[in-house]
Amino acid sequence: MFGADVACWDIKPEFQEDVVADIKGLGKKATASGVDVTSDESVKTAMEQVIKDFGKVNIMVTVAGSAGNRQPAETFDIDEWQKVMNINVRGTMLCAKYAGRRVHQTGRRRQAHHHRLGAWLHGPSGGYAAYGTSKGAVHLLTKQLATEWAKYRINCNAIAPSIFWTPLTQQIKNDPDMVKIFMARIPMGRAAELDDFIGAAVYCPRRRPTT
Ligand SMILES: NC(=O)c1ccc[n+]([C@@H]2O[C@H](COP(=O)([O-])OP(=O)(O)OC[C@H]3O[C@@H](n4cnc5c(N)ncnc54)[C@H](O)[C@@H]3O)[C@@H](O)[C@H]2O)c1
Repeated sequence: MFGADVACWDIKPEFQEDVVADIKGLGKKATASGVDVTSDESVKTAMEQVIKDFGKVNIMVTVAGSAGNRQPAETFDIDEWQKVMNINVRGTMLCAKYAGRRVHQTGRRRQAHHHRLGAWLHGPSGGYAAYGTSKGAVHLLTKQLATEWAKYRINCNAIAPSIFWTPLTQQIKNDPDMVKIFMARIPMGRAAELDDFIGAAVYCPRRRPTT
């Protein structure tokens, strides 16, 4: 884990149990909390708890996301569309906002937003009017935060893998035509694996010491 203590958040904290056990197994501190990233109150309270438990925040990684149900744009259920936007965009903003306040008071400063870029900025076919739009928004939000928070020396990046197999991409994995479309865009011709993320996730630009 490159030395980090980790507070894991998920709307289903039981999803974090294995991760927390792995981190503790490496001798680091880890906690799991039930947090709804779409709720201002939930994120605010969770961040206060992190400060109580860990004393500071150096790094925030926003990962919670939903693909929702793929639907044709002309008949897209707008409540479903809003649900995806709430989790992916509002959720990222709330986590960034409450972490940003804390991160700029501490040492190493970094935010990473996990989103899918390559495919989405091209507007892929297949019913992605909600997911694609939300990831475009996270992309711009990351740039916005990087610009606004440069004065606090907070480094904001987005990790934008093409595809890796998780519950979120199960629908694609089950559809050979969709798998073909996605693989055709990936020069290595395969889905991402865990090791592919490590370099991007721990990215640490060298800086001159501040004077
Ligand atoms: N799987 C891929 O191919 C892929 C590619 C690029 C980007 N991404 C992005 O990476 C992130 C993680 O994707 P994944 O594939 O691991 O998905 P996943 O479905 O396995 O995990 C998403 C997690 O978000 C949690 N979540 C959903 N709504 C929440 C809420 N309101 N509050 C808190 N937690 C909530 C879920 O419980 C789940 O544990 C997402 O933002 C996704 O868009 C995924």
